Amino acid sequence: PASDPALVERARAAKERLGERLFILGHHYQRDEVIQFADVTGDSFKLAREAAARPEAEYIVFCGVHFMAESADILTSDFQKVVLPDLNAGCSMADMATFTQVEECWDLLEDIGIADHVVPITYMNSSADIKAFVGRHGGAVCTSSNAKRALEWAFQQGEQVLFLPDQHLGRNTAVLQLGLSLDDCVVYDPRRPDGGVTPERLRKAKMILWKGHCSVHGRFTAECVDDVRRRVPDVNVLVHPECRHEVVTKADYVGSTEYIIKTVQEAPPGSAWAIGTELNLVNRLAQTNPDKRVMFLDRTVCYCSTMNRIDMPHLVWALESLVEGKVVNQITVDPETTHWAKVALDRMLALP
Ligand code: 13P
Ligand code: SF4
Repeated sequence: PASDPALVERARAAKERLGERLFILGHHYQRDEVIQFADVTGDSFKLAREAAARPEAEYIVFCGVHFMAESADILTSDFQKVVLPDLNAGCSMADMATFTQVEECWDLLEDIGIADHVVPITYMNSSADIKAFVGRHGGAVCTSSNAKRALEWAFQQGEQVLFLPDQHLGRNTAVLQLGLSLDDCVVYDPRRPDGGVTPERLRKAKMILWKGHCSVHGRFTAECVDDVRRRVPDVNVLVHPECRHEVVTKADYVGSTEYIIKTVQEAPPGSAWAIGTELNLVNRLAQTNPDKRVMFLDRTVCYCSTMNRIDMPHLVWALESLVEGKVVNQITVDPETTHWAKVALDRMLALP
């Protein structure tokens, strides 16, 4: 069972044995039974900063998904070993942009003569080799909490942006925060010849959006916003910017997971909140804010299945292995990729 007391006790004992040598990071979408062991919880931006802020910790156990653990390895020293308790904790969005596909796209932009004006920006939710590609080509990483600043920076460096791999975060930020029009955005589909878009459209667009999305946030629809407003007339709708554009435009508030938590915490008692993000987080917000009415935007949307791969048996196995001196499921990024991915990550961390 999820909260098996024997597993909880084993995790607690192993954590105690490892002491200061161990630092556990937990993303807000993690299960309750796992997140209770995190030394720090956060969204992907906060966790990237935290990983870099604990140079003395020999083991960083990352309760999150693969691209986050890679970023932690990139931002920490060789002495520090990053462990992902289950290697199957990937991210379907990150998998939607492969290195070869991004190279093909860039070749096309070069062929039609615009690559020199294009600044690539990749969402944190991408593999280390995509981050390295972006770093090598003058671009930066962003997360949902700094996408606006990253795009402003990019438009100071060049005239066009190639935004990877989440089309929704790219479009929502460009249109709702930078004031661009939907017509300024074009979608590049890596599965279609030439991205399924004409060279004229690519030349004209300010934002070239990669055709990727989050399989969890992409399920919320405009109808579920209308529906909750009918059922709960005074409800505040608060969604993550990975949701589709029509959902975000109908919502009252939009922001990263840290923003969602802060907004609900600071809301007046008795207020009603329908939240469009991952279910573990929404359930926890409901538990920790009993004076407010916190509900899930759409009951048909489920947990992020890959975030949920990190469970107590995997966490206990990873921690007990460390106690025995065995580093299991270590995430390592090669030096060349690390160098260029760090360039892109450091550009993000230096944003004002
Ligand atoms: P943030 O942590 O940046 O809000 O992103 C959400 C997410 O989908 C992480 O996988
Ligand atoms: Fe990836 Fe979406 Fe899961 Fe985040 S919530 S890890 S973007 S699939």
